[in-house]
Amino acid sequence: MNTSLRVLFIEDSKIDVAIVLDALTQGGYTPISERVETPEAFKESLANQTWDIILSDYRMPRFNALAALQILQESGLDIPFIIISGSIGEEIAVQALKKGANDYLMKDNLTRLVSVVERELREAEERSAFKKAEKELQKANATKENLMATLTHDLKTPIRAEHRILQLFKQGDFGPLTQDQDQILQEMILSNRYMAHLVDNMMGTYSYEDGDVVLKLELTDINQLITSQIANVFTYMAKEKGLTLQLNLSENLSAIEVDPFEIQRVLNNLIQNAILFTESGGSVTVATNQTEDVTLISIADTGKGIKPDLLNHLFDKYKTETKRLKHVGTGLGLYLSKKIIDAHKGQIDVKSEEGKGSTFTVKLPRHPKLRR
Ligand SMILES: Nc1ncnc2c1ncn2[C@@H]1O[C@H](COP(=O)(O)OP(=O)(O)OP(=O)(O)O)[C@@H](O)[C@H]1O
Ligand SMILES: [Mg+2]
Repeated sequence: MNTSLRVLFIEDSKIDVAIVLDALTQGGYTPISERVETPEAFKESLANQTWDIILSDYRMPRFNALAALQILQESGLDIPFIIISGSIGEEIAVQALKKGANDYLMKDNLTRLVSVVERELREAEERSAFKKAEKELQKANATKENLMATLTHDLKTPIRAEHRILQLFKQGDFGPLTQDQDQILQEMILSNRYMAHLVDNMMGTYSYEDGDVVLKLELTDINQLITSQIANVFTYMAKEKGLTLQLNLSENLSAIEVDPFEIQRVLNNLIQNAILFTESGGSVTVATNQTEDVTLISIADTGKGIKPDLLNHLFDKYKTETKRLKHVGTGLGLYLSKKIIDAHKGQIDVKSEEGKGSTFTVKLPRHPKLRR
């Protein structure tokens, strides 16, 4: 072994430096060194040159190891710092280690020197590789998040435009349609809706994970929110699938303060799941209720139910069973729904029995102190 080693000595005795250099040479190193004994000189050496290791005396007439450690830390450099002292009591040694020294040795016993230097160089290299990898990972993550956010955002507009055009076609605005064309258009409208759902869930998830969601609270009539949605989309979807969609909405439901757009997302996800995972002939029931403290919304289906092992992770990200079915799902629907309900200081629960069906219940507090 003949390894070059750039050593910065903080030491007032030239003889002591010579002894340590000799020990390093004996150990197989070819040291290149400089000796400083004042704070000014130490700072200058740190600023102007690259060092592999710092070997420092404990106390000198104009400087000491603890002051040097402070300067090193302030510089932000990660250079192993080893104290080599003539006399260092245990207490002082412990204090120096606490302040960031990597190790300490006695001048009259340098047997550990080479192994300590080797170890510290190795550990410093590992730290630097780790830091580099961490930085790269952060950069890659930021790029990915950015890309996803831009992508999902930019997809929204064309999807919406496409939806509008398809509807116009379907209404016959561009001329009469054959039965086949009508059928194909219907498929296209459904797949467009699915894309919109996917992009919306992805965008929602990114905003909630970024922590930049601020709920826009409005006094909202939950029943009305449900009827307008059901009328909009789901009546049609259920009919298409041969399901009965029932509403069991409580009369006298007082309006509550929620972010209607976000609650609509939750309802969309829950009702869509209920329809998706229920076979034809079954039913989906949406019900509301209110107590003194909470407003309850439940979505019950007579579908295939949820296996107990999935039930425990149902609200986790990317949990989806849809790949086994004909549909494609990202598994973000319930994850995002829970984030939204949590943000409203509410609760979302599920009860399910395999083969019999599932009931999702959302509880929203009636008097939440949500405003920041
Ligand atoms: N009503 C339900 N009946 C049976 N299984 C359900 C029901 N709701 C959810 N699941 C199960 O939970 C999984 C996760 O649902 P989630 O809505 O989070 O994702 P997804 O529907 O698969 O995809 P997407 O992100 O498009 O909504 C589903 O894949 C399904 O297996
Ligand atoms: Mg879903």
